[in-house]
Amino acid sequence: MPDLALKTESTPASPLAAEVARRRTFAIISHPDAGKTTLTEKLLLFGGAINLAGQVKAKGERRNTRSDWMKIERDRGISVVTSVMTFEFDGRVFNLLDTPGHEDFSEDTYRTLTAVDSAVMVIDAAKGIEARTRKLFEVCRLRDIPIVTFINKMDRESRDTFDLLDEIEKTLALDTTPMTWPVGRGRDFLGTYDIATGGIRLLDGGGAKTGAAERIDIADLATRNANLNVDEIREELALATEACKPFELEAFREGHLTPVYFGSALRNFGVGDLLEGLGKFAPPPRAQESNLRKVEADEPRMTAFVFKIQANMDPNHRDRIAFARLCSGKLTRGMKAKLVRTGKPMPLSSPQFFFAQDRAIADEAFAGDVVGIPNHGTLRIGDTLTEGEDVTFVGVPSFAPEIVRRVRLTDAMKAKKLKEALQQMSEEGVVQVFRPRDGAPALVGVVGMLQLDVLKARLDAEYSLPVDFEVCEFQLARWISSDDRKKLDVFIAANGSGVADDVDGDPVFLAKNEFYLGYTRERAEGIVFSSVKDVK
Ligand code: G4P
Repeated sequence: MPDLALKTESTPASPLAAEVARRRTFAIISHPDAGKTTLTEKLLLFGGAINLAGQVKAKGERRNTRSDWMKIERDRGISVVTSVMTFEFDGRVFNLLDTPGHEDFSEDTYRTLTAVDSAVMVIDAAKGIEARTRKLFEVCRLRDIPIVTFINKMDRESRDTFDLLDEIEKTLALDTTPMTWPVGRGRDFLGTYDIATGGIRLLDGGGAKTGAAERIDIADLATRNANLNVDEIREELALATEACKPFELEAFREGHLTPVYFGSALRNFGVGDLLEGLGKFAPPPRAQESNLRKVEADEPRMTAFVFKIQANMDPNHRDRIAFARLCSGKLTRGMKAKLVRTGKPMPLSSPQFFFAQDRAIADEAFAGDVVGIPNHGTLRIGDTLTEGEDVTFVGVPSFAPEIVRRVRLTDAMKAKKLKEALQQMSEEGVVQVFRPRDGAPALVGVVGMLQLDVLKARLDAEYSLPVDFEVCEFQLARWISSDDRKKLDVFIAANGSGVADDVDGDPVFLAKNEFYLGYTRERAEGIVFSSVKDVK
């Protein structure tokens, strides 16, 4: 087993390797309302990326950030788009890939997790693990993404600390190591105990930002809050120190163990500890699997893959931005990359970095960074850009939709326009489009209802295509494949109207319900039904 700590902390072999080694690319996973937005603000504050907290998400009047591009966002006060924010702290470059804050699940959220090297899991201390956290965690687990846990809202009534840790261990099958431990709870929450140093950081003690926790005698705590039972606290801390697993970097990096920090994003408490932990333990950009070989992050030649396309970021300019994660090497403004899917050169004349509110031209970027590449529909999700070698990154997935609908056009004359628009939308990853082989009108598939609203609003605004969605006879879609081409052909012929083509022309089986899917699957010998497809 290689020593990961040594690999990270040893002196890098080249200036490129040094740049790569100081990067941390991560996302926050949480259930709505756990405090993701508040924590994001505070993290950005630490990095000096914004001057005032409250600018990432400002509900109502204040809400005029760059992602405020679509009416449905304004109406609902939610952020539909996934954005990326870059900030520096303590010599490290953090790329925080934001995921939509709405409870609806969109594919963007899943795909964003293919572009990160670690994740921060935010848990509401009163609620513990909630549904969406668990779902996002499962996506992280598929890729063994290391998770750092932040238990938030400690300034409010919270559940028992041991209980919370136990729940993480049991429901997620993830070992925990508390790095800090809360002292007092709810109204009597006083601060956190640093398990490694034995110091206590006080909620009202200043110094919340950085610096070591003060070493306060536990006996003195009673003078700060008469409600605290010092003996109980002493006992709990002793138990926590003795009973909990020691932190193991390898287990963390392999996704088996999570370090846990306690705090209050609202009070900007514990956020510094979290950020320090992330810098120290979270991995630098990992090697990425391609169709030919593993590509190491510190290889000199630039490679990148597109994991998200975003349209209309600026309502005044109808631009499309492809978000690309650099996997190796260095991107320099003006360089010519190759778009492997088409074999054509792609000049990178104005790659962009994103900050809390602004974007700026990226003169150079390194493996681990995410850049926005303006384009007019040339780039698709899953595309690989390289400095020359024809590798294609694998693992940018499409997920089987959970909702399937038929698109009904109010103006039948516009069928051709709709076809083009749907093609574009599916290349952007807004929806999946399935064209039944029997010539019936196209079906769209989405992971969350909100995607349908976005599709409807965009078709109307950008293509003047008013559409409705109809519930249809199909509810489920699975990609089908077989090692035996003949078997696949026979299956397709036998299931005529239940087979459609996806955007790449790959066959998809449409089923009325789970039962029918199971029934068909059992009888379709040699056919593989898949709910995830790698975008090529
Ligand atoms: P989300 O992005 O995960 O959905 O959560 P968000 O940060 O918007 O936080 C949800 C609510 O929880 C907000 O209150 C926020 O102020 C509050 N909150 C976040 N962190 C903490 C914390 O550490 N302690 C306490 N006590 N509250 C916290 P809201 O009233 O629903 O929203 P707002 O009107 O303040 O925006």
